[in-house]
Parts: sequence; structure tokens; C-alpha cells
Amino acid sequence: MSTEKLRLKVLEVVQETGDAHSIVFEKPSGVSYKPGQFLTLRLPHVDGPVARCYSLSSSPHTDDHLKVTVKRVVDGRGSNWVCDEVLAGHEIDVLAPSGTFTPKSLDTDLLLLAGGSGITPVMSIIKSSLAKGTGRMLLVYANRDEASVIFHKELREMVAEHPYRLVVLHWLETVQGLPSKKPLQEIVRPWGHAEAFICGPAPFMDCAADALKELGISRDRIHIERFTSLAGDPWTEVETAAPEPGGKTVDLVVELDGEMHELDWPADQKLLDFLLDKGLDAPYSCREGACSACGVKLLEGEVTMDNNSVLEEEDLEEGWRLACQSRPTTDVVKVSYE
Ligand SMILES: Cc1cc2nc3c(=O)[nH]c(=O)nc-3n(C[C@H](O)[C@H](O)[C@H](O)COP(=O)(O)OP(=O)(O)OC[C@H]3O[C@@H](n4cnc5c(N)ncnc54)[C@H](O)[C@@H]3O)c2cc1C
Ligand code: FES
Repeated sequence: MSTEKLRLKVLEVVQETGDAHSIVFEKPSGVSYKPGQFLTLRLPHVDGPVARCYSLSSSPHTDDHLKVTVKRVVDGRGSNWVCDEVLAGHEIDVLAPSGTFTPKSLDTDLLLLAGGSGITPVMSIIKSSLAKGTGRMLLVYANRDEASVIFHKELREMVAEHPYRLVVLHWLETVQGLPSKKPLQEIVRPWGHAEAFICGPAPFMDCAADALKELGISRDRIHIERFTSLAGDPWTEVETAAPEPGGKTVDLVVELDGEMHELDWPADQKLLDFLLDKGLDAPYSCREGACSACGVKLLEGEVTMDNNSVLEEEDLEEGWRLACQSRPTTDVVKVSYE
């Protein structure tokens, strides 16, 4: 589960491009993950350690090891340390894999729109689908220029091996200019039936999501992963305010790991804190509303969230909420982690 703290040994560092490095970790037995999920790394910094999420570019179906791929951010505290300092043999503290940017089935057709380092979770999904699924995939991959294309060779080899299942279209700013909505729509139009996954810089994701929505692809088939930096440190014990004795409680029904739990939920306590206090193995990573690892679907009632840096208006309309930030505002609340 995502709460587990691990110390991983670095087996290899691979320079993928001028400003992107992959870190290959030894995979401890018992650690499992889904294609598209991420690790949270604890990285040293002069002002104190920073926690940074990095998507796994390895596939649970084809790779023995865990691999993350990190692209430098100008003046970034974590990414530059990873690219400059990490060597084989080092050990790094991480939180076990988590995240919801993962296909429900590898047998469905997938429309994959990636920009820059946004290829990382997409790579895991492609490798997994080719190895274990039957779906066809179109990848549109946007980069500044040819030299900045991460996994160029690997992608070419996969297309050569699976020409009927994988199509890769490169969009280079130096050749085609910045990605824009109309040309993107022309490219993806035949893929309107597919499940869409979008990851990359914010302007690219906004453009891609708009393009798909305008084509009539419903929001519940568009999955978006936003690459933000965490502000807090998930390794320090989180101070969870104890509920006020004798305070108001509401009726909570939670579906988790195939089981239903009926509980009295103190109205002043956040949902995740409450479930963990009750000994339930609810998923989480950042606990600050920035990663969506704790996402739940609201089936009945309503909650209010202290902070939300990841869910979009459409996600909220579909009922998604962040358990780490949610307090009840109705007398009955029903949520599902399924
Ligand atoms: C689910 C998820 C998956 C991700 N997967 C990947 C991935 O696969 N690959 C990848 O490369 N990235 C990924 N990211 C992004 C990654 O976690 C970091 O956000 C990214 O590497 C930048 O971190 P940084 O520490 O280098 O930059 P930061 O230090 O966070 O800096 C970001 C920006 O803020 C400025 N800044 C510098 N110092 C400060 C300061 N003291 N206060 C405020 N701002 C400052 C910097 O100039 C920079 O422009 C992912 C993020 C998430 C949430
Ligand atoms: S645990 Fe990251 S948003 Fe809730």
C-alpha cells in the first residue's frame, strides 16, 4: 500500500537526454505497482529534504527493477540533485508506488498524449499493454526538438516490433511549432473511442484536454497527471488533530478493498486521518492535496476540501474528492475507493 516507506538501492543511472536521467532501483520483493503509478523520493537539500514524486517508466510486466526518469527543472531543488548526484550504490528513501493514472484494462485502445518528461508514466503503460494486453495505442509525443525526445530508441523499437498495435507521432516544436488544438484534433479524431491519458507541461495538457473534450470524448475517459512539487515532507509524522470529544459525527459508508465499512465520522476530522485512525489501509502519498493518490468517488452526501491542487472542475462534477483534504458537510456520506 502507498503508506509503506522503503529504502531503495540504486543499481544504475542512465543518461537519457542532455537533461533527463533514469534511476534504476533494485525492486524489493513484495513491492508491486500498476503501470502509470509513481514513487515519492526523499531528496536532500540545504534548506532541508524535499519530497518529489517521479512516475515509474518501468513496467510491472516487463521489468525486474523499478525505474524513474527525471528531467531537470531550471533551479529545481530535487530534479537537479537527482541528475547531478545520484550514482549506482546510493540508497534513497521512497514511499511505495501509488497513483491513479493507470488504465483499468490493458485490452482497451489507448490514446496517449505526452509532452517532455510526461512520457514517463506513458512509457510504463505502453510497455505493459504490449506485453499483457491486446489494445491498440496512438502516442502523440511533443518535445522541443529531436535531442530532447526521451526513450527515442526504445519507442522506435517497440513500433517496429508491434506495428499494428502501436503508432507513435512525434511533435517537435522546432518543426511544427507549439502543439495547438486544431491540428491535434485532426490527428486524434479516429481515436475518439479510446481511453485517453495526458501528461506533460501544463499548457500542453490544457491544449490536449480541450482538444479531446471538443471532439466529444467524455471527461471520464480523459485521465490527466499533473507534475507538481510537494511542499510538505510525508516522512515526518503528520499531526492529525484529535476529534473534539462529544462533537458532531456523521454516518459514513466506505467501500475499500472490496469491503463495506459503516462508521461514525467526527465532522471535524479529515476522511483519510479518520480511516487511518480506524486501522483501515486507505491509500495516500502526499497528504497535502497535490498528488491524487487518496482519490475517492463520492456516491452520496458532500464533503469540503481544505486544499485541492490536482482535481479539475470536471473531476469534482464526476464525484472525485481527495480523502486527505475532505471533511463532511452532510449527515450521511458514502464514498468508494474502487
Ligand atoms: C504524480 C507526479 C508524477 C511526476 N512524475 C515526474 C516524472 O516522471 N519525471 C519528472 O521529471 N518529474 C515528475 N514530476 C514532477 C516532480 O515531482 C517535480 O515537481 C519536478 O522534478 C520539479 O522538482 P524540483 O525540486 O526540481 O523543482 P522545485 O524546487 O519544486 O522548483 C520548481 C520551480 O520553482 C522554482 N523554485 C526554486 N526554488 C524554490 C523555492 N524555494 N520555492 C518555490 N519555488 C522555487 C524553480 O525555479 C522551479 O522553476 C511528477 C510530479 C507528480 C506530482
Ligand atoms: S494524498 Fe496526495 S492528494 Fe491526498
